[in-house]
Amino acid sequence: SIDISKLRSATGLITMDPGYKNTGACESKITFLDGEEGKLMYRGYPIEQLAEKSSFVEVMYLLIKGELPTQSELDKFITDINEYNYVSEDLIKILDAFPSSAHPMGVLTSLTAALSAFNPKVVDVTSPDDMYRAAVTLLGKFPVLASWTQRKIKGLPVNYSNDKLSYVENFYQLLFKKPGQELDLDPVIIDAIDKLLILHADHEQNCSTSSVRLVGSSHAGLFASISGGISALWGPLHGGANQAVLEMLEAIKNDGGDVEKYLAKAKDKNDPFRLMGFGHRVYKNFDPRAKIIKVAADNVLEKLGINDPILDIAKKLEKAALEDEYFKSRNLYPNVDFYSGIIYKALDIPTEMFTVMFAVGRLPGWIAQWMEMRETNQPIGRPRQLYTGAPLRDYVEIEKR
Ligand code: ACO
Repeated sequence: SIDISKLRSATGLITMDPGYKNTGACESKITFLDGEEGKLMYRGYPIEQLAEKSSFVEVMYLLIKGELPTQSELDKFITDINEYNYVSEDLIKILDAFPSSAHPMGVLTSLTAALSAFNPKVVDVTSPDDMYRAAVTLLGKFPVLASWTQRKIKGLPVNYSNDKLSYVENFYQLLFKKPGQELDLDPVIIDAIDKLLILHADHEQNCSTSSVRLVGSSHAGLFASISGGISALWGPLHGGANQAVLEMLEAIKNDGGDVEKYLAKAKDKNDPFRLMGFGHRVYKNFDPRAKIIKVAADNVLEKLGINDPILDIAKKLEKAALEDEYFKSRNLYPNVDFYSGIIYKALDIPTEMFTVMFAVGRLPGWIAQWMEMRETNQPIGRPRQLYTGAPLRDYVEIEKR
């Protein structure tokens, strides 16, 4: 038999970095983040300025094109997106086939992958014009698909886009408009959603974005690559954390509201429980997005006159964790997902939809990263491994095992 150490050495020199904690996979001009200082910039613009002064549609343009648009460039971008803000009626048959208990993220990733079949011309594109066309096609169709996932769990008929509305207003009416109803578009609500989408729009090489790049590095098309990113986002350690935060807060409330008990559980190394919405792979300081969202959450709740016991628990938990030695010594601060769920809940968005909202925000970032990856001719992604399995052995017939 062959010695396993020989099998290992046959691999040559390998950098082991499970979870890619310190491995750079690409150069990028899109997003800068400084985890120590808690700073985030899209194309050089601080996230604080974009959240205050820009709009989600303008940020989409910035991420994808690299510069802020002039008014006429922005108008053309919106017209281009609106050209594609419908989805083939045949896709409704796929939607209908899902049970109403299906998780919206499962439905969204499937419908996005199905777009490849319905739009074969944008599947394998390489020229800048074709890539742009693929991008605006997806930006147009994605809010429609995302809204369908909510309509499905609520048992409501699907809605269609309204070109007269802004991107975010249209998304809102796609989600909420009931048949025969005139929907009130409250500027406070639209502004809060716009901000949330801006803050989620890109975050350099996180798990879902790296997935989009890895899938796309095989030259799979944009829609298939994004579908991979949606699946990666779904998990509770990534985008699924916003749903997990709300579920955790509800559980604490139903258990008598004792935040100290849950803090102790999170610190107990024999208990798998973690405080959802706390900690971040890169931020070892306050997540700058969390700071902005915390203020937005306070505004929305005050303006909508919402007094929610869940919010009191969130505030108590935040205070207790920030004062706790375990959390302080490990630099575990509330992240963006800790507060976003609170706003979504106030806006009457079902808990299972929270990660879909994140996906709508992250879409322009995924697209920009996918385009940059193709434009810079990134090689196919293919990590190595260190084999630790059985050494070479002979096959044993089934009756002799
Ligand atoms: N609650 C309790 N302890 C925690 C938490 C938490 N939320 N997060 C990290 N820790 C502890 C770990 O147990 C570990 O302790 P140790 O040094 O004693 O072993 C230490 O802090 C470092 O944690 P790691 O797991 O090594 O950090 P990593 O960078 O791998 O994980 C992650 C980051 C996944 C975000 C983690 O903090 C976590 O699970 N948080 C909760 C889920 C969450 O909120 N995810 C959203 C992330 S933001 C986003 O995707 C938009």
